[in-house]
Amino acid sequence: MQIETLILGAGAAGLMCAAHAGSGTLVIDHARAPGEKIRISGGGRCNFTNLGVEPARFLSGNPHFCKSALARYTQWDFIELVSRHGIAWHEKTLGQLFCDGKATQIVAMLLREMDAAGAELWLRSSLADLRHDGTGFVARVEREGETREVRARNLVLATGGKSIPKMGATGLAYDIAARFGLEIVSPRAGLVPFTFPDGRFSDLSGLSLPVRASNDRAGFDEAMLFTHRGLSGPAILQLSSYWAPGEAIRLDLLPGADLAGHLKAARETSGRKSVGTVLGQLLPARLVGGLDALSGAPLATPVGALSDKAIAELASRLASWELTPQGTEGWRTAEVTLGGIATDALSSKTMEARDCPGLFAIGEAVDVTGWLGGYNFQWAWSSGAACGTAL
Ligand code: FDA
Repeated sequence: MQIETLILGAGAAGLMCAAHAGSGTLVIDHARAPGEKIRISGGGRCNFTNLGVEPARFLSGNPHFCKSALARYTQWDFIELVSRHGIAWHEKTLGQLFCDGKATQIVAMLLREMDAAGAELWLRSSLADLRHDGTGFVARVEREGETREVRARNLVLATGGKSIPKMGATGLAYDIAARFGLEIVSPRAGLVPFTFPDGRFSDLSGLSLPVRASNDRAGFDEAMLFTHRGLSGPAILQLSSYWAPGEAIRLDLLPGADLAGHLKAARETSGRKSVGTVLGQLLPARLVGGLDALSGAPLATPVGALSDKAIAELASRLASWELTPQGTEGWRTAEVTLGGIATDALSSKTMEARDCPGLFAIGEAVDVTGWLGGYNFQWAWSSGAACGTAL
């Protein structure tokens, strides 16, 4: 069959692109259902965008690349779409917008938009072969035991990144892009928990507290969660996207608090209380008792016996606890993929490869990665709309 555009991947970006591209468009996906990551996202309620979307909240080899698409299809455009489809939503925290009901409403909305535009979707379909014959792309698609030849003027790579292979994530977009001469920025797991050896935090597993997690490149004031394998929670997931193996991270366990002032006041008013008891007024008792960082701290000492120097040392130890993760949980649990198809080769307006007319790349497959909190879906909507409008 001869069509205008073949989109590989019926995820967030591919469906959005098809809804804008309209008739003459075929979307294929090897999964049984479209938009599976949308369905499971945000604990089943899909954190579909963020009120605070701005280019500085995206990581990329070229930090300017995302600007055009984000400006032309904004969070407000998506909010308008969601509202037009009667989907109720709410702001949870930090500008994060979630459905009141199920995330599947978002998938159904995208399918309705795509249908209305006249685009077609084939599920359980995989690409058996692909070539360019000088005028367009020639794909052999396997579907329900049959092989069909699909000829298309345009090919859109929308198969996402490598995170959660159990859900069907593959490196197909990278392989095809590389075959057509596009550079790939080495893909890495992002928004992913850190691991530490020897069950270092297993006694604290399940404990959550607000922290500032930082390194020399970024810092996040959000919750941190101790796990059997290491550290997780939003502050840690965010920082993981700015981390490289072997590097240390810093934790401020009492962000915004004046611990030295608190200890000095306690020294005056309740000098016989132990340091551990005073710390327990500010931090969860389980943490005070179990934290390695405090192993050298004089927990049993009466606070009245602390010198100014000892107080300053203790305060600084808790404000910049430095530790080096062994690694991350990797693709198994990563929410997103850093790196991907290098932006240098793409037009930021249309997402088309400059040196390969008719080849486009959108969504997570491209080297643009958002923060936690709805930013990655917004990139999928914005890049999908930019491409679909240009087709
Ligand atoms: P996406 O992964 O959505 O779609 C790719 C499609 O391509 C899939 O349907 C897949 O089956 C198909 N495909 C892959 N390989 C193929 C092949 N070889 N042949 C055929 N088809 C193939 N973001 C956010 O903003 N808010 C949130 O709440 C969350 N929550 C969240 C939770 C979890 C658990 C994960 C893993 C991720 C999130 N994300 C998120 C990130 C978000 O899901 C992600 O960035 C977008 O889905 C990316 O959209 P894409 O369309 O680019 O890829």
